[in-house]
Amino acid sequence: MSRGRFITFEGTEGVGKSTQLAQAERTLTDLGVDVLVTREPGGTPLAEDIRALLLTPRDEAMNDLTELLLVFAARAQHLYGRILPAIESGRWVLCDRFTDATFAYQGGGRGLSADRIAQLEQLVQGDVRPDHVVLLDAPVDVGMARARHRGALDRFEQERAEFFQRVREAYHARAAAAPERYHRVDASRTLADVTRDVTSLLTSLVAESRST
Ligand code: TMP
Repeated sequence: MSRGRFITFEGTEGVGKSTQLAQAERTLTDLGVDVLVTREPGGTPLAEDIRALLLTPRDEAMNDLTELLLVFAARAQHLYGRILPAIESGRWVLCDRFTDATFAYQGGGRGLSADRIAQLEQLVQGDVRPDHVVLLDAPVDVGMARARHRGALDRFEQERAEFFQRVREAYHARAAAAPERYHRVDASRTLADVTRDVTSLLTSLVAESRST
């Protein structure tokens, strides 16, 4: 049994991740790939409880370090309980966000140092990194307008545009540092254009996996 692949979808709010993940699942399934779609923070019952702690607005301000540690606590549970067993059994895991979101939101957005985040990444994940990152990229105002249409805003969605601008810039910096693993897709275009690019990327990754 060959190892599966670990592909994550990233981006600021409202860039269309859920739509693209659903389409990506169909594309891979049609190609005969056994797929697991999951998300962070979350993906197991305990990690979903941690997600609720992270997203629910409350009167007491959450310390940035508390937020960082909760994100990685959820990740440890999800990674060892669900993601790695799936990959080891040959499944391809499509994950709605992973550690790039931590570098972008807790690093770029909150201003925590990338070194500190990298230490936790090493502690929790060892050498595990996504094989590929699909970065759905759109100007912050486009995504924020879409997110606002969805109703009550969670603790992150309540942040200001400047916060998401820093998040977006942190994503750009990470993508630029490792272009072989990051696939930036311009998500400000029509749904059909974005879907075509993501489908073509996944199709080529499957073909590549079968030729090796
Ligand atoms: P979602 O709205 O895309 O499901 O993501 C939930 C929120 O959690 C989103 O606003 C980004 C945030 N988040 C972080 O701040 N750090 C992380 O590491 C992850 C995975 C998500």
